[in-house]
Amino acid sequence: MKIIFSLPGNEALAEKIAVGIHAETGICIHRQFPDGETYLRIESDVRGREAVVVCTLHRPDDKLLPLLFLCQLLRDMGAASVCLVAPYLAYMRQDTRFNPGEAVTSEYFASLLSCAIDRLITIDPHLHRRNSMQEIYSVPCDVLHAAGVISTWIRENIPQALLIGPDSESEQWVSEVARNAGVPYIVLEKIRHGDRDVEVSVPDVEKYKDYTPVLVDDIISTARTMIETVGHILKAGMKPPICIGVHAVFAGDAYRELLASGAERVITCSTIPHESNGIEVAEMIIAVLV
Ligand code: R5P
Repeated sequence: MKIIFSLPGNEALAEKIAVGIHAETGICIHRQFPDGETYLRIESDVRGREAVVVCTLHRPDDKLLPLLFLCQLLRDMGAASVCLVAPYLAYMRQDTRFNPGEAVTSEYFASLLSCAIDRLITIDPHLHRRNSMQEIYSVPCDVLHAAGVISTWIRENIPQALLIGPDSESEQWVSEVARNAGVPYIVLEKIRHGDRDVEVSVPDVEKYKDYTPVLVDDIISTARTMIETVGHILKAGMKPPICIGVHAVFAGDAYRELLASGAERVITCSTIPHESNGIEVAEMIIAVLV
């Protein structure tokens, strides 16, 4: 029987997974010494068992060291394997050296994690310039996609939805969600007149005036991408859009700013605990762990 551990903040998801795969919830004491260093103690017997550690990795710098320590401790205590469930995987965006001397942190982060675990399960990692996780991770990775649960949510909650992709790069993703949800989609058209002079138009705007626009993106971080797109949609005379993000990173005040931008509603998947969560991802993790 697998045994599930979680880092603070991941208890709810870990519990759902434990129930879903009929696994034991492991007991781990985790606290900080007065000087800020991490204390960990495992009180469950993990010898010869497959351990699963649940730790989503937004704002990763504070989480990484306790996570590496926990994985090392599980191995020291005799666990047969350690599988990390990180629904949001950090450090995927600095995937190249844009300027001389810059750290390619996606590679460094991947090599640190790969040393500590035997398997990684994650959801929609931001693979932009890389084709596969295996280019940077040396352990087997299960890459899950939220498109299915997002399509279902749209089908069940938004009558007469129109999916909107902010740019041509989003077309692949938006078209898949739209197809599964059985709704139409459009992609905004950008015409660049100069470095700072970009015209954005909404195609077929008259045809879709009565539809509810739905924006879908993988990460909402500063929310600038969503806020700009909301602006273009409202300017074109369409209804206020519903904004859906897979990962509710929301840097600083981004969530409030997006709500204030004229969006009708903001919904995210539960890969990062946040008040905007409305689309559950536990089931798809359970499906690959059983
Ligand atoms: C970009 O490639 C991603 O798909 C997102 O559009 C981007 O990360 C969103 O970032 P922000 O919320 O900071 O505009």
